[in-house]
Amino acid sequence: MSNRSFYLTTPIYYVNDIPHIGHSYTTIAADVLARYKRTRGFDVFFLTGTDEHGQKIQKAAQACNRTPIEFVDDVVSKFKTLWNTLNISNDDFIRTTDERHCRRVKKIFQRILGNGDIYLGEYEGWYCIPCESFWLESQLEEGKCPECGRSVEKVKEKNYFFRLSKYQKRLLEYYDEHPHFIQPDSRRNELLQRIKYRVDDVSVSRSAVEWGIQVPMDPNHTIYVWIDALLNYITALGYDDDMQKFQKYWPANVHIIGKEILWFHGVIWPALLMSLGIDLPFKIFAHGWWTIEGKKISKSLGNAIDPQSIIQFYGTDAYRYFLLREVPFGLDGNFSYSALIHRINSDLGNDLGNLLQRTLTMIEKYFSGIIPEVSGADDELRGVSQITHDKMDHEMDELQFSRALEIIWEFIGHANKFIEDKKPWLLAKTSDTRPQLAAVIGSLAMAIKDISVFIYPFMPKTATEIQRQLGILLNDQPFCLELHQGFKESTIVRKAKPLFPKIEPTVVSAIN
Ligand code: MSP
Repeated sequence: MSNRSFYLTTPIYYVNDIPHIGHSYTTIAADVLARYKRTRGFDVFFLTGTDEHGQKIQKAAQACNRTPIEFVDDVVSKFKTLWNTLNISNDDFIRTTDERHCRRVKKIFQRILGNGDIYLGEYEGWYCIPCESFWLESQLEEGKCPECGRSVEKVKEKNYFFRLSKYQKRLLEYYDEHPHFIQPDSRRNELLQRIKYRVDDVSVSRSAVEWGIQVPMDPNHTIYVWIDALLNYITALGYDDDMQKFQKYWPANVHIIGKEILWFHGVIWPALLMSLGIDLPFKIFAHGWWTIEGKKISKSLGNAIDPQSIIQFYGTDAYRYFLLREVPFGLDGNFSYSALIHRINSDLGNDLGNLLQRTLTMIEKYFSGIIPEVSGADDELRGVSQITHDKMDHEMDELQFSRALEIIWEFIGHANKFIEDKKPWLLAKTSDTRPQLAAVIGSLAMAIKDISVFIYPFMPKTATEIQRQLGILLNDQPFCLELHQGFKESTIVRKAKPLFPKIEPTVVSAIN
């Protein structure tokens, strides 16, 4: 593996229904990290995709009188359209119905069987179809699934089992030696408690489910959907019949997931990799869950807002910004229109938008639209910009997106205050102070350019628009990523309409 490669993944999403805010959250977070790493010169491979087999999908297709493949093709296209609208820059999109995936999963299953870690047995217990999870009687909470609270069904069937219990000790040692393997720490601690307490072997096939990848040499079983799904992280890299990408990008730098699927990623997945003799990923980060106006997102509550409707009204970048700014990554959060609108009017409109508008207006008014050049020594904002860059780096490496944004907004606040302190309108009154005026305005233009670089991973369209209005992104010019650079001699600004016009409360109530 080249040490400049960076492989990151999202969970692959179930396609029993259209995507909602929760799905978009993980994918946006991964996109922000992918874009950020690319700007820092990494060779990034960003994978997302869809989890298309299993009982839940089989049932959903039956309910609409369609074949599973017709059904999933339709929902997959909705995910792809949303990722497109959200400007997601994934390098690959894996579907578990892809031939490349099915072929490789069968081979891998065979390999684990061959090394003695899979055996045939009988499962008797409970099963939650929405979570596609097996539960012991003792794990149920008031007879319901402890994860999602829904009804479970009794299952008694012949299954192939994976010897997960055999890996309990090795896993505990691994967590111990790699304290940052599972993040955040609170989730890591919960997982450690659970694994120390008890680890059972897990079913890796279903004899009662037809919609899945057949177990090699046993047509009565399909591979358990979670095993099929987890393997996507390596089948997408070609494991193990086309190893070039695998050699380049594995081990994954981070699997970004939601907190509810940490057991699968933090315990079953590493044990499968240990059985296969493959190195473990560097990090698994489990983020928190969104509620909507205080309630759990659920189909039955009918509150699973389609992100497309929010984006259509408020725009892609505002939506991306809001989700990552509002809640520290790792904690739970609540979506509300009033919070979204507050962020747009205040952070995006007042702070960022006004900084750009005011500065461009002054460049037009005092310098006929030509950005005055500023030397390093006279550029009073340069030092703060550099500090912002360094602090942001640290937070991004920790996946602390909201902190990174806070740091960028401190810089925006600093630049706005710089205008108030320097009072360029007074400096413009006499020709004696023309050099100071030029230094102030030049420094502001440079700061705004740097801000466009900082916000680029979060708001790529806005960042591009800022550079366009600053006149440094002409047709033939690439997006300028270098700090304290970008302006050629006599760069002419092109002021346009405000980036984030104020949203009036009357408009808000009309769409709610
Ligand atoms: N198919 C499995 C994952 C297999 S990965 C090998 C699955 N799919 S899912 O469609 O249910 O998506 C789960 C993921 O969607 C969560 O882990 C999380 O990333 C995201 N979210 C779904 N609902 C969410 C919220 N309410 N809030 C935040 N994110 C959540 O599980």
